[in-house]
Amino acid sequence: MTMSSAEIREAFLHYFAERGHQRVASASLVPGNDPTLLFTNAGMVQFKDVFLGDDKRDYTRAVSSQRCLRAGGKHNDLENVGYTARHHTFFEMLGNFSFGDYFKREAIQYAWEFLTGVLKLPAEKLWVTVFTEDDEAYAIWANEIGVPTDRIARIGAKDNFWAMGDTGPCGPCSEIFYDHGPEVWGGPPGTPEEDGDRYIEIWNLVFMQYNRQADGTLLPLPKPSVDTGMGLERIAAVLQHVHSNYEIDTFDALIRAAAKIIGCDDLGNKSLRVIADHIRSCSFLIADGVMPSNEGRGYVLRRIIRRAARHGSMLGAQVGFFHKLVAELATQMGQAYPELVTKRTIIEQALAREEEQFGKTLERGLGILQDALSQLDGTVIPGDVVFKLYDTYGFPLDLTADIAREKQLTIDEDGFQAAMEQQRQRAQQASQFGMDYNERLKSSQRSEFVGYADTAASSQVVELFVDGKAVTQLDAGQQGIVVLASTPFYAESGGQIGDQGKLVANGGAFVVEDTQYIGKAIAHHGRSDVALKVGDRVAAEIDQARREAIKRHHSATHLLHAALRNLLGEHVNQKGSLVSAERLRFDFAHFSAVTAEQLDAIERQVNQEIINNHVLDINYMPIEQAKQAGAMALFGEKYDDVVRVVRMGDYSLELCGGTHVERTGDIGQFRIVSESGIASGVRRIEAVTGMQAARYSLTQQQQLRAAAALFKADPAQLTERVVALVERSKGLEKTIAELQQKLAAQAGGDLVGQALHFGEHKVILAQLHDVDQKALRSMVDDLKNQIGSGVVVLAVASNDKVALIAGVTNDLTAQVKAGDIISRAAAEVGGKGGGRPDLAQAGGTDTGRIDAALQAARDYLEQQFGTH
Ligand code: ALA
Repeated sequence: MTMSSAEIREAFLHYFAERGHQRVASASLVPGNDPTLLFTNAGMVQFKDVFLGDDKRDYTRAVSSQRCLRAGGKHNDLENVGYTARHHTFFEMLGNFSFGDYFKREAIQYAWEFLTGVLKLPAEKLWVTVFTEDDEAYAIWANEIGVPTDRIARIGAKDNFWAMGDTGPCGPCSEIFYDHGPEVWGGPPGTPEEDGDRYIEIWNLVFMQYNRQADGTLLPLPKPSVDTGMGLERIAAVLQHVHSNYEIDTFDALIRAAAKIIGCDDLGNKSLRVIADHIRSCSFLIADGVMPSNEGRGYVLRRIIRRAARHGSMLGAQVGFFHKLVAELATQMGQAYPELVTKRTIIEQALAREEEQFGKTLERGLGILQDALSQLDGTVIPGDVVFKLYDTYGFPLDLTADIAREKQLTIDEDGFQAAMEQQRQRAQQASQFGMDYNERLKSSQRSEFVGYADTAASSQVVELFVDGKAVTQLDAGQQGIVVLASTPFYAESGGQIGDQGKLVANGGAFVVEDTQYIGKAIAHHGRSDVALKVGDRVAAEIDQARREAIKRHHSATHLLHAALRNLLGEHVNQKGSLVSAERLRFDFAHFSAVTAEQLDAIERQVNQEIINNHVLDINYMPIEQAKQAGAMALFGEKYDDVVRVVRMGDYSLELCGGTHVERTGDIGQFRIVSESGIASGVRRIEAVTGMQAARYSLTQQQQLRAAAALFKADPAQLTERVVALVERSKGLEKTIAELQQKLAAQAGGDLVGQALHFGEHKVILAQLHDVDQKALRSMVDDLKNQIGSGVVVLAVASNDKVALIAGVTNDLTAQVKAGDIISRAAAEVGGKGGGRPDLAQAGGTDTGRIDAALQAARDYLEQQFGTH
């Protein structure tokens, strides 16, 4: 039987759905529930909190086909791509999950039945492994399924104990292997030849039992669970009777498209495989909102694009070939992943830009590397060369390692790391990756949010925290966190900041400074002026005026989003937002600065929609229906199956859990305060509404009026008057410069008359006043010309500083040096100096000792020339 990738995906989802599993859509590659994890690297990531018992769903069995990325982070396959038949940066993982429902027995039975019953794989081609100590799984495979014991291997923790990251859910696992046949080299799992391509792991059944802590201890999960993962590409290779994932239908099409674009005939070329793999990860990353940058996720994306660009250049491709592959990818996978189609333009633009940037330096960088290689002693490329390539030419470490590997060389990674230390420190400060997921506050409470309708409510304290620990009582004067059963306080989410206000109780109040979610619990952060216990009743009151201002900014954010898409184009996608009482901040994908004219048009359009006074129509509906209606959803955000949809007339439709005004007219006024770039391809607009906008307009008007008053003019005439003033001041500056020159010439004339005679040499020693320091040099030159043979030493004081200058005519420089004169003079005024033999300058600070400085110069010259 052969099946296409799409058919296999559907058969899998269907098989488990029929067995009571909820079909759950693939989550974003950017995990919405875990800032400590770089990428979604397995199907279980979106269910992590369900395994831990921190999140509850209304199902206990699930099935999904999850897009995964394994580059950077704990599970990293980037370097292997292109060198093996089965490693990818991006792949799809088919998985079935049990959250405290079934365990080992059913997991094994389902897997076996699906492989042998549905996909009709011959049982004798399948091998299995279990964790060394897992007698239970061993017995199920041997006795209940009937796998011959010579095809069951017990394997240690390295391969058969699966963990998502350094901390979090984990457990022993059992893997199923497929034997691609004796014509392929390799041995069964557990043998020295296991790394060959003959026996390939196709399915991993993880028996989730523990939550690994930072110190390595394993705490049991609330309920034993199941997490499985089968790589769609690997099983497709089996069913399509090919030995390499790169020969399956989807890859074959991408490789052919790449070969055509590049003009390469060798379809088996390793670099084509690398490119076909990388176009998938890069496109999906950008579709999920990641942009190339120098840190975190964006940097991983940059590394992958650059690696693809380099492999393209090895095949002789023109710069700019890579983004042309997006079209074929959208054809291949657009049906399963519509975002590839809807975001195609932005994906292509982002890739093209990065290709172009890297293209500019690729050749020069390769040249540098070539030079280094030709001088290489031994087989290790020095760390400083690797660093220079990285720092100056944008060659990521793994790219240089890749090039080295092709030449049977290695790189001095330690040397590179040492050189990197500074950059690394900076990146680490800005990043939260690597934080311990178990260290965060945890709560199993679910608070009801009643703040859409009410600004005050009576409720009960259900949980208290002090210093990160749950407590039963908060003392008067103590800082802490209060969780209520229900509350009108909005917890920060979707860009909208948390409410402030107070919880009145026991004759006093807890002052709420901020409101945040802890899981599903709404946590009020603040300080209490009375003792508060779990179980106490409180009257919760939000700061209403502040909330009103937040509402105006939130609704205006939706209008701004719509205006940007109308006026700049559909590629404008929200990349982040912050809605506060003072202002709104909106980050979006766009490739150039927004012009002043565009900003004006945006501001006008938003204000027009405010005046149109749309009623805000807020409804709950199934997510599919909302998407069909064209509602804008956010990247990386995890939505429930039923979503809240906010509509403003025909103008704006967005999924949003935030609080909003009743009619757009309530926003009052909208003013853009700034526009700037914050990362490659990402712009930021800050704006104000309501009274903040009124105040902003008023301040601008006052500034204008104050400026106009200086001219005794009307604000409308201000520009004209400023232009005239600038012209006039230019004229004045010119006149002043001319006068200064005249004055200096005059002063110079007087000085020649007062010159001392040391033998036949003339010496001018003088302190000048009101001379621009810059004019000093030309004065010295003038004076030297006038005296013909001699020395000139001048000093000026201005602003508590002394400037000294000494000039010696050329005929005398063998006898006295300007530098020697100036250093003696400078020493008197607390300075140092230097210069050429014929001209030297110095500064000093002691303006009271200028006479002494000139005297020192005189003494020295007398010595040199002899007394007269
Ligand atoms: N989470 C398991 C894996 O990624 C299934 O292998």
